[in-house]
Amino acid sequence: MTNLLEVKNLHFHYGKIHALKGVSLEVREGEIVTLIGGNGAGKTTTLRAISGLLGKITSGEIRFLGERIDGLKPHVIASRGLAQCLEGRHIFGNLTVRENLNMGAYLRSPKEATHDLEHVYTLFPRLYERRDQRAGTLSGGEQQMLAVGRALMQKPRLIMMDEPSLGLAPKVIQDIFSIIKKINAEGIPVLLVEQNSNVALKIANRGYVIEMGEIVMADSAERLRSDEAVKKSYLGMS
Ligand SMILES: Nc1ncnc2c1ncn2[C@@H]1O[C@H](COP(=O)(O)OP(=O)(O)OP(=O)(O)O)[C@@H](O)[C@H]1O
Ligand SMILES: [Mg+2]
Repeated sequence: MTNLLEVKNLHFHYGKIHALKGVSLEVREGEIVTLIGGNGAGKTTTLRAISGLLGKITSGEIRFLGERIDGLKPHVIASRGLAQCLEGRHIFGNLTVRENLNMGAYLRSPKEATHDLEHVYTLFPRLYERRDQRAGTLSGGEQQMLAVGRALMQKPRLIMMDEPSLGLAPKVIQDIFSIIKKINAEGIPVLLVEQNSNVALKIANRGYVIEMGEIVMADSAERLRSDEAVKKSYLGMS
């Protein structure tokens, strides 16, 4: 099967800092793939490099739907169907929930957008309840739902999520993860970056472990979960 997303030997520098040292990973049709690693390992950098947000990569290749996307502008990459929920959420605080969601659909026809808005409200009844509320006044968990909902409004072929559970209460984390599973069951592959590796490896099909800008392990989520080194470093068990 062809890979939906294929990253090959990606290097990236922030000035003199060599943040990514030959990262390779793939996401195939139907999958949830997780990228786990400690603080500063290069997870966010990997996602931002893929989305084109970091500009020119040092070297390597990024392919989406079989075509090179490295070197393209972020909006062009997004318009090809690659959506991203950023770390820190980046919603528009002064706009309402509904306005934020509609921004996600800016590339699409109003009719399609209305249909998808209803679908997002079905997935997140809370967002429907709060549709006229200013997004900046939503709770952390609600803002995260909004960020995911907005990405869905792009009708993506793949969603990348950076720490969707960050700062959320355990109950809300469960909600977010069950939504991720639901989105995936509807046919959208997910590349998920998480510190919460325990939960991430439970819903993922495969995972990669990144340390200091290098992928040090790649395996099925099941095998990673039972790996002693992974348990010790990332699952809070010894
Ligand atoms: N804009 C930047 N300028 C310089 N260095 C940066 C910049 N952004 C990130 N870095 C560095 O690149 C490395 C990788 O950072 P990155 O944000 O990708 O880590 P991460 O795996 O997402 O970590 P966390 O789990 O803490 O979010 C870190 O050493 C970080 O300090
Ligand atoms: Mg990060």
